[in-house]
Amino acid sequence: MSTASTAFRLAARLEQVGFSDIVKIRNRIMELRAGGATVYQFEGGEPFLNTPAQIKDAMRCALAENKTRYAPSSGIPELRAAIAAKVRARNEIPAETEDVLVVNGGMQGLFGAFQSVVNPGEEVLLFSPYWTPIKDLVANCEAHAVFVSTDEARAAGFAQMLARKLSPRTRALYFNTPQNPTGAVFSRADTEAVASFARAHDLVVIADEAYEDLVYDGEHVSIAALPGMYERTITCYTLSKSYAMTGWRIGYAVAPEPWMTGLRKALLYSTNGVSTPTQWAGLAAINSPADFFASARAAYRERRDLLVAGLNELELTCAMPAGAFYAFPDAMRIHADSRTAAEILLDRAQVATVPGIVFGPHGEGHLRFSFSTSLETIQAGLDSMRRNL
Ligand SMILES: Cc1ncc(COP(=O)(O)O)c(C=O)c1O
Repeated sequence: MSTASTAFRLAARLEQVGFSDIVKIRNRIMELRAGGATVYQFEGGEPFLNTPAQIKDAMRCALAENKTRYAPSSGIPELRAAIAAKVRARNEIPAETEDVLVVNGGMQGLFGAFQSVVNPGEEVLLFSPYWTPIKDLVANCEAHAVFVSTDEARAAGFAQMLARKLSPRTRALYFNTPQNPTGAVFSRADTEAVASFARAHDLVVIADEAYEDLVYDGEHVSIAALPGMYERTITCYTLSKSYAMTGWRIGYAVAPEPWMTGLRKALLYSTNGVSTPTQWAGLAAINSPADFFASARAAYRERRDLLVAGLNELELTCAMPAGAFYAFPDAMRIHADSRTAAEILLDRAQVATVPGIVFGPHGEGHLRFSFSTSLETIQAGLDSMRRNL
């Protein structure tokens, strides 16, 4: 059978969709470890904490009570109502229960959002460096990602920098705060500037607030809460980072019509909803006491301060990340090419990071370090860099 036959070609739509580079880094780490080396791991993207006990108990309870059948595909009503109350109170987004969809993590919400809004040939503006999968979610719509440098927007003004990249094909704007990979948190003034640009040019905003609960300096502002923004915004949340639930695969998207119909179709025809017992565990997470985040945030802050001070002392110049759990230092001191810099760091100091270029052209010359790890690992990784760089 000849694979040159046109029958054996992947759908054209998927040709521009990439696979995560981070997998290659993980393979290299596994190789080193298998050879007996100690690797100080800063390349990860998940909470170092375990899922809180009350969430695991709720899952056990749901199973014991046989809450194991199909749920309504948009989510169990109790959870949707609790989420609507949470976004009204915490995010100041005027959502009702029918504006909430329970999804399999942030990724599925974002997938549904782009599918609901973006047509082939259209363009999506995104601040760069950006979380890598966004480019692929846009490509999966046969559309194009157009990058706007976050640093330049902050220096020269958001409206001016966005206007430079606007075209008649611009359909939407992806807005991630706190940001992965830089840990930047957009201020209220920044967010207002972006919102006013979206309104002026009739753009839809896809907001990604995966790290909303991990803000150390400043405040988290939801763009959908600003005047005239709710109707043009789809906001995607996840329980992954807030409640250390990366493996559970649960999150939610918030939007009015017509977006909700699109999101519901994307969910229905991909996974037909979220595992029912997981949704009951999700309800326990959303109902966690209001002070729940204070201790997690304090632990992350301590790690951030230790890592960033150490990096700056090593002349890996690093701005203080205001949110999320990543530091994004300049790595030019090691090598101008961030892939080479990451390799050198791994080979010489056994410190694993993610090359900045993975997060787009504006990430080149940097490395992403996660500080979501033990204080001992941060200390030992810094010591190894001091000895070996
Ligand atoms: C910026 C951002 N958005 C969304 C997600 C999606 O997370 P998940 O699919 O695990 O809920 C991530 C995960 O790393 C992220 O960094």
